[in-house]
Amino acid sequence: MSVIVFGSLNLDLVARTPRLPMPSETLTGYSFETIPGGKGANQAVAAARLGISTHLIGRVGGDRFGQTLLQSLQSDGVHCEGVAIDEASHSGVALITVDDASENQIIVIPGANGRVGEAEVYRLRSVLSDAKVLLLQLEVPLAAIEAAAQAAKQAGIPVILDPAPAQSDFPAELYSLIDILTPNQVEASQLVGFAIDTEAEVVRAGQILHQRGVQTVVIKRGKQGAWVQTATEAFAIEAFPVQAIDTVAAGDAFNGGLAAGLASGLSLQAALIQAAAVAALSVTQTGAQPSMPTREEVERFLEEMGR
Ligand code: RIB
Repeated sequence: MSVIVFGSLNLDLVARTPRLPMPSETLTGYSFETIPGGKGANQAVAAARLGISTHLIGRVGGDRFGQTLLQSLQSDGVHCEGVAIDEASHSGVALITVDDASENQIIVIPGANGRVGEAEVYRLRSVLSDAKVLLLQLEVPLAAIEAAAQAAKQAGIPVILDPAPAQSDFPAELYSLIDILTPNQVEASQLVGFAIDTEAEVVRAGQILHQRGVQTVVIKRGKQGAWVQTATEAFAIEAFPVQAIDTVAAGDAFNGGLAAGLASGLSLQAALIQAAAVAALSVTQTGAQPSMPTREEVERFLEEMGR
C-alpha cells in the first residue's frame, strides 16, 4: 500500500501579523519562522504520518533550503529517493503571512519546482508499479502533471488531482485522466467560470466538472465540509467543529488523508471522513508540515467525535 506524490517542495517563510497588509502598507509582525511546506511535500507528510508508505517525486535546489526540506521529509518517513537536487536552481520558497483571524496570503516562488519535467516522470514510472494512488497538485509545470497522470492511467493507478493553486489555463484533456478532483471553492469557481457562493452553485460546479470527464469531484468547502459528485450519487461530507488557529495547508491535509485512506483500502466515504478529520486537526496547529496529525491523533479524534 503506497501513495506517490508528484509535486512541489517549498520552504515556507512565515510571518505572523495582527492583520494582512494592504497594498503599499508596512506592518510590524509578531514572529517569523521557516517551516517545511510546498503542496506536494505537505500532502506526502499528511499521508506518511497516517502510517502509509509514501514516495515523493520532485526537485529541490542545490542550496541549504533543499537540504532542510529533504531532512525534514525523511524524518517523517517520506521516501525521497525520487526528489532530485538541481544544482542549477534554488529551492522553492513561499512567503506566507498569517493574521489573528487565521487568514493567510501566500506568494510562491517555484525555483526548482518550475523545472520538474521528463526526468521526474521517468522516476515516477519506476515506482508506479507499487502504488495504490498518485497524488498531484498544480505547483509544478502542467506538461509534467499531464505526463504523470498519463503514466498512472497506463499503469491502472487512480489519480487524485488537487487543482491548487487555482490556474486559468487548466488543460481540458487533463479532466479525463483524473479519478478524483479536489478543488476548493475558489479553484472550482476558476475551473467552471462562475462564482460559487450558494449551495446550488456548488452542486452545479460538481456536475459540470464531472461532465468534463472526472470520475469523482470533491469540492472542499472549509468549515462547510465537502461536496461530492460521483457518476451515481452526490452527497455532503460534514466538517468537524474545531477552533482554527492556522488554515495554511488544510487542503493539503485533506488530500493526504484522502489518498492515505484510499491506499489503505477504505471506501470513498470513509476515506473522505478521514480526510475531513486530518484537515480539522491540521488547522488547530500552526505551520504546514508540522500541523499534520499522526494516525493515533486522527483515530482518537474520530472516536471523540463519535465516528
Ligand atoms: O498549501 C499550503 C502550501 O502552499 C504552503 O506550504 C506553501 O508552500 C504553498 O505551496
